[in-house]
Amino acid sequence: MERPRRLLVLNGPNLNLLGNRSPEVYGTTSLPELEQLCRGWGEELAVEVDTFQSNHEGVLIDRLHDARSEVEGIVFNPGALTHYSYALHDALEAIEIPTVELHISDVTRRESWRRQSVIAPACVATIFGRGVAGYRDALRHLVFRAAMPATTISYGRHPDQVADLRIPEGPGPSPVVVLIHGGPRAESWARDLMDGIAVDLTAGGATTWNLEYRRGPGAWETTLSDVAAGIDALLDLDATLDLENLAMVGHSAGAQLALWAAARHRLPAGFPGSGPLLRPSLAVSLAGVLDLAKVSDTGLWDGAVAAFLGGDPGEVGVGPDDPAGLLPIGITQVIAHGARDEKIPAADSRAFAEQARTLGDPVTYLEYPEASHFTLIDEQSPEWRDLASHILDRLGAA
Ligand code: DQA
Repeated sequence: MERPRRLLVLNGPNLNLLGNRSPEVYGTTSLPELEQLCRGWGEELAVEVDTFQSNHEGVLIDRLHDARSEVEGIVFNPGALTHYSYALHDALEAIEIPTVELHISDVTRRESWRRQSVIAPACVATIFGRGVAGYRDALRHLVFRAAMPATTISYGRHPDQVADLRIPEGPGPSPVVVLIHGGPRAESWARDLMDGIAVDLTAGGATTWNLEYRRGPGAWETTLSDVAAGIDALLDLDATLDLENLAMVGHSAGAQLALWAAARHRLPAGFPGSGPLLRPSLAVSLAGVLDLAKVSDTGLWDGAVAAFLGGDPGEVGVGPDDPAGLLPIGITQVIAHGARDEKIPAADSRAFAEQARTLGDPVTYLEYPEASHFTLIDEQSPEWRDLASHILDRLGAA
């Protein structure tokens, strides 16, 4: 696997004011602190990170031109120039260096003019609304797409109806892992969250299908039918796949979608996602939200579950949209949770596993004492190493 050696983090107008400028929108990290963080994240990824900021469009263009001989990827926050600088778009197109467009704030939930990006078509991905931590995710994305390039395949007409396909080397057919990222109630979370474990699983002998889907508040039915359609699209792929050995692996609320997708044969006719279906041999929940009723009762998500489903909190859960309501599913399950999960209590996963087992499902419950919410999708963590071997062994990956 080829890793890039040098990446550039480029910031545009007004980002020199970070830390003081609208901290309620952009946070309190200053630009020098952010640049220091980026260099540290680079070290974790074994890549050198250069940083540069300018308030001037022409200076940014010159820096992009110079980047051609210097770096193999760029994280670019062009500030307000994002919304109207065709000159920056053209510079990015001309230099042909993979660039991730980055915004600290959630530009989709602010003034409508911030929703337009004229540079996006010249970028390989856009990350927004994750605070300064988004820069880390952008660096990771550049490293993983260089280390093991994916083919992005559409399963519908919407730009979010896509999946990244990675096939291991060798004659095949290889077992298949569908990856479903979490955060479906906000558009700011996307499949790049699963890049690290996708590359790791493919290096371990499995084809990975890292699914994107339409999401956002009230988009529940669309999310469910996209997940179903995205999985069934594997049947039409022109690739040698061993679909008898298929796992659906989801993180956080994506685990709910993974288990729901594994249980589609239990859906009432006419419910979104029923129809042609591909049944997995394994369903894996990583720090999952598996019981919507419970999560919404605890108020942990501040009513977000109800907002996401577009319904009344009293009506949420234990229905055909909820894995807990579809048990038993007759499919081997690995339910994993960190005891230090700060978002979803491990007790919920424990209770779900218990219930599934009582109803006759084959379930392995793994609770990791030191793990927090994101540890289980951190490809460098010992917990992920353990999970990867559970998944690959069960699928019989070479
Ligand atoms: C920004 C969003 C832009 O709309 C704004 O003009 C900025 C910062 C962000 O990081 O959220 O300057 O790019």
